[in-house]
Amino acid sequence: MEGRKMNTKFVFLLQFLLFLSLVLCESDDQAAPMEKTEQQALYLMIQGFVGRSWNGSGLYPDPCGWTPIQGVSCDFLNGSWYVTSVSIGPILENSLQCSHNAIFTPHLFELKHLKTLSFFNCFSSPTMLPSNSWNNLSQTLETLEFRSNEGLIGEIPPVIGQLMNLQSLVLVDNSISGKIPQELGNLVHLKRLSLSGNRLSGPVPTSLGKNLANLLILDLSRNSLSGPLYQSLGGLTSLLKLDISNNLLNGSLPKELGDMKSLTLLDLRNNNLSGGLIQSLEQMISLEDMLLSNNPIGASLNEFGWEKLVNLNNLDLSNTSLNGEVPNSIEGLGRLRFIALDNNKLSGSISPRLGDLPRLNALYLNGNNLSGEIWFSEEFYERLGSRFASWGNPGLCYKGGVGPAGVRICKDNEQAKYFDSKNNVIRDDIEQSSSQAEILASCACGALVQLMVVISVTLL
Ligand SMILES: *[C@@H]1O[C@H](CO)[C@@H](O)[C@H](O)[C@H]1NC(C)=O
Ligand SMILES: *[C@@H]1O[C@H](CO)[C@@H](O)[C@H](O)[C@H]1NC(C)=O
Ligand SMILES: *[C@@H]1O[C@H](CO)[C@@H](O)[C@H](O)[C@H]1NC(C)=O
Ligand SMILES: *[C@@H]1O[C@H](CO)[C@@H](O)[C@H](O)[C@H]1NC(C)=O
Ligand SMILES: *[C@@H]1O[C@H](CO)[C@@H](O)[C@H](O)[C@H]1NC(C)=O
Ligand SMILES: *[C@@H]1O[C@H](CO)[C@@H](O)[C@H](O)[C@H]1NC(C)=O
Ligand SMILES: *[C@@H]1O[C@H](CO)[C@@H](O)[C@H](O)[C@H]1NC(C)=O
Repeated sequence: MEGRKMNTKFVFLLQFLLFLSLVLCESDDQAAPMEKTEQQALYLMIQGFVGRSWNGSGLYPDPCGWTPIQGVSCDFLNGSWYVTSVSIGPILENSLQCSHNAIFTPHLFELKHLKTLSFFNCFSSPTMLPSNSWNNLSQTLETLEFRSNEGLIGEIPPVIGQLMNLQSLVLVDNSISGKIPQELGNLVHLKRLSLSGNRLSGPVPTSLGKNLANLLILDLSRNSLSGPLYQSLGGLTSLLKLDISNNLLNGSLPKELGDMKSLTLLDLRNNNLSGGLIQSLEQMISLEDMLLSNNPIGASLNEFGWEKLVNLNNLDLSNTSLNGEVPNSIEGLGRLRFIALDNNKLSGSISPRLGDLPRLNALYLNGNNLSGEIWFSEEFYERLGSRFASWGNPGLCYKGGVGPAGVRICKDNEQAKYFDSKNNVIRDDIEQSSSQAEILASCACGALVQLMVVISVTLL
């Protein structure tokens, strides 16, 4: 009996322990430990954006555990879970979507370990960025993005400049106005700064160029920024992409652009820049896209040394008040796919060697004062189609056979002279290949040639 009693007690104890461990394990497995304040701040912050009817504690009782919220990520730090990333807006089907009267609540700034905050297509009625409290996130926030929020108005609050660890600041396609605050120059860890597609005005602050030595991408396009591009831009020595197109910049190109040895994209189209193609641009050895169209730059094209720009893919100098002749050195840039020199004041003749650029896919020479005989192969005209244009050059003519649109046939006394870079007349070569082409075209295998052209066009 004694033994049996003991046994019962033991069994009870065992059962109790088992129960206890089950309860403990269950809470361990099923509810991720989280500070109540952190959890409440998360619910209330989201409610501000998606509407009061959203019941966070009801729908997502364990937001960092077994009831994750789409767009919210957490990290385990110091024995409990913290929200590190919040992304709001219709990215996925079950993403958090903003209500018509989305607002920022102060609870956003209680999330102590927030690293990433992004909004897409959220604010539709007029809303301003909070003008204080950002310093609460100054040690943690690394990425801040607002994209396509047409209701997002007002200025960029200077306090954003206190987010010391920010690596990416993206405010694209909103309705933000005012000047770019100098304080953004304090964000020394920034790799990407994109403020395109807003209503920003005033100058590009000098502080950006002075301090942001880690910046890889600077995109200020599609705003109303004015004034000159300051020399301080030369401090952006790591920059890969610079896009300030579609603004009201004036003055000349700063010579410090030449210090950006890694730059692959230079896009300054549609501004009011003048002062010529400065020599330091000749040193931009990584450049793949030089896009300067629709600026009264006013350069002489053949006073610029193209030799080092061997990585150029796209060269857009359309409508830039260029004069002079098309230099032979351009023919050496074997990666060129797109050349637009249209609507300028270029004179002289067109070298047929442009047609030998192996990747060339578009060549616009229309609206200049080019003259003499134009000679490209039939294959060249077929390959480029409407991506070749040379009309609007009254002095230009062709010798018969296949000719470009809008160009007249040469009169007998018009003789073209082509020079290569060593000033040797290369007219003879051309006549040879020209007559070869004629023979080919007139021979019985003409149909075969045409078929091959069709195939190569299709393959391209
Ligand atoms: C939210 O959901 C919880 C749990 O289902 C419920 O107790 C609470 O009353 C709800 N709150 C609101 C405001 O509906
Ligand atoms: C972890 O907790 C200690 C003590 O409470 C605190 O000093 C430290 O900052 C905390 N670390 C993190 C990452 O929150
Ligand atoms: C900033 O952080 C402190 C400490 O975490 C907190 O008490 C305060 O409420 C936060 N400020 C705002 C505006 O939320
Ligand atoms: C740039 O524009 C401003 C304002 O329109 C004007 O005052 C300034 O003279 C212009 N600078 C140049 C170099 O054209
Ligand atoms: C461009 O600059 C010229 C000369 O400074 C000025 O007359 C013209 O109005 C400017 N154009 C624009 C669009 O700002
Ligand atoms: C040419 O560029 C000027 C600015 O320099 C611009 O005002 C004009 O509209 C452009 N012309 C065309 C045809 O794009
Ligand atoms: C066009 O070029 C010819 C020389 O080929 C020159 O005589 C003429 O003045 C130029 N016309 C214009 C408008 O620049």
